[in-house]
Amino acid sequence: MAGMAPLSLRRARLNRHVRELTRDVRLHEEQMIQPLFVVDGIRQAEPISGLDAVFRDSPETILQQIDADLENGISKFLLFGIPRGKHETAFDHAFTSEQINRIKQRFGTDIWLATDVCLCSYTTHGHCGVLNENGDQVLNDGTVDKLASAARLYAEAGADCVAPSDMMDGRVAAIRATLDSGGLDQTLIMSYSAKFHSNFYGPFRDAADSAPAAENKLTDRASYQLDPARSSDALLCARRDDAEGADILMVKPGLLYLDILSSLSAQISKPWAIYQTSGEQAAIDILAGQGLLDRDSAQRETWQAFVRAGASMIITYAARRAKGILNQ
Ligand code: PBG
Ligand code: ZN
Repeated sequence: MAGMAPLSLRRARLNRHVRELTRDVRLHEEQMIQPLFVVDGIRQAEPISGLDAVFRDSPETILQQIDADLENGISKFLLFGIPRGKHETAFDHAFTSEQINRIKQRFGTDIWLATDVCLCSYTTHGHCGVLNENGDQVLNDGTVDKLASAARLYAEAGADCVAPSDMMDGRVAAIRATLDSGGLDQTLIMSYSAKFHSNFYGPFRDAADSAPAAENKLTDRASYQLDPARSSDALLCARRDDAEGADILMVKPGLLYLDILSSLSAQISKPWAIYQTSGEQAAIDILAGQGLLDRDSAQRETWQAFVRAGASMIITYAARRAKGILNQ
């Protein structure tokens, strides 16, 4: 047949105007959460290997950082407190609590502050909980008790939300009960419901000083984080966390687990967060640094994928660059 068939589906892609009108995914900086690290015993902000424009902040520089982020339209944060002293069982949450308190004193309701609840930055061995005597297992209930007290301290210090990332069984129920009995029924719980045993946490573990120590008997987190080869476990965990009272559920990492987010968000109608992890971010930043992709456009494409799959909020190290990324 000579001649061309008339355009059909392409008509709605032909120019920027019609593309803007036909989108079903729209991104905004208001849906972004910026992770923050505050480190005991440092005086200046330190760069994090592999990540652009993300720092280990000191108690002083973190306030300036939040000021700058607010200027850029970012008002939601996920805080990781990194204490100097490490322990086996008697963890000291004073440093992190004090930082929450100072940050909320300064910024009040201008910001929404979620605080990570885990023990891996607090333990000598770098595991997310208390070890048994033999050092080859993380104890569940002993860990949950510690997590619940930490969550309560953070909530008392002013955290708007506590976010347990440990992957113990029953921690959401224990944290909810502890918060409610302490008059903290307005504090949200964002549960890392489907957090997989991933290779894409590398830069974070350096930043948070939380890698399992080389001399451990238990060398990795496979006995508590989800197995990437078993998707059904994600549904069990998410249903459980939903039933235990989590306000926000999460999938982590992001790009490799879009199938999980897509399926879980269709089945459980609580708000869903996705965590674009440090390794995922470094993959973009390092490729961009080598001129192999366009940094902002690639970042936007990953965020679009998250929203397509059902996320209403995105935890991303590039949140503070969102305005520039989205206004192009
Ligand atoms: C630790 C924790 C990790 C992350 C958040 N909390 C790493 C891990 O489980 O080893 C990952 C964050 C990232 O890579 O950006 N409980
Ligand atoms: Zn941990």
